[in-house]
Formats: sequence, C-alpha cells, structure tokens
Amino acid sequence: MYDKIVLSVEQITEGESNLVPNLANTASILYHSLPNVNWAGFYLYDNTELVLGPFHGSPACIRIALGRGVCGTAAQKRTTIVVEDVHEFPGHIACDANSRSEVVVPLIHAGKLVGVLDVDSPLLGRFTQEDAEGLERVAALLMSRMPQ
Ligand code: SME
Repeated sequence: MYDKIVLSVEQITEGESNLVPNLANTASILYHSLPNVNWAGFYLYDNTELVLGPFHGSPACIRIALGRGVCGTAAQKRTTIVVEDVHEFPGHIACDANSRSEVVVPLIHAGKLVGVLDVDSPLLGRFTQEDAEGLERVAALLMSRMPQ
C-alpha cells in the first residue's frame, strides 16, 4: 500500500520544490488511496502556531497552538503519534465529530519544524505502526523536495 503511495507522491512532486502544490497533491493521494479515512492533510507552522494547510475532507479548525491536541503535541515533541481512540487523548481537538482514530507525523526540514501531516479515520484503532512508518516515508519525501 505505502510503496504505491510513496511512488505516486514521488512522481507527482518530481521537479517541484513549491510546498503548497506538493502538499495539496499528497493530501489528495492519501485521501483517495487509504481506506476508511475521512480527513488527510497538513497544518503548517508559522513560527507561532499550526495553521491549516492543504487537505482533503471536511472543513477543519484553522489554528492549533503547539502542545494542543494531537497535532500540536506531535509538533511540539517532533514525534509521530498514533491515537487508537481520540476520545481517550487528553485535549484532542474534534474538528469532525465522526473521527475516532488519528495519526500525526511531524514535518521537519533542515532541523526546523515545517508542520504536521494528519490523517483521521471514523474507525477505532484504524492506524498501525505500518501506517506510521508509511506516512513518515511520505513526510520525508516531501521534505526532500524543499529547497536545501
Ligand atoms: N484532531 C486534531 C485536530 C485536527 S483535525 O483532526 C483535522 C488534533 O487533535 O490535533
């Protein structure tokens, strides 16, 4: 599954260093490729907080402070977080009441926080270590497309 996704992202971002179209196309690929997903997209760090970036799915909350919710926690700790049941995650921000599980991967370029990749599912426990690792490959590929 992720080999195919990484290949698609590789092909569609080939030769393009602008972040916005690369993230927009990746959100589309993830949303349409991954089963049982109701939101796939990005929040970008503006040096103060996370701000909504390109995504597929229902409209989402626009600003998330570092350390808040799953996205803000993953950004602050710079670590991938897999949440089996969002109702059990302290401070989870419910953008879509249908979401039950979530995975968030930080985007780091040249040692700096760029933002996070966030994927949500209406199913409990939808995301595994395989998803975390696959999405980390996608995040690393996207960061490698940015100018050095
Ligand atoms: N649930 C996230 C907020 C972003 S939306 O799911 C798109 C969180 O707790 O950080």
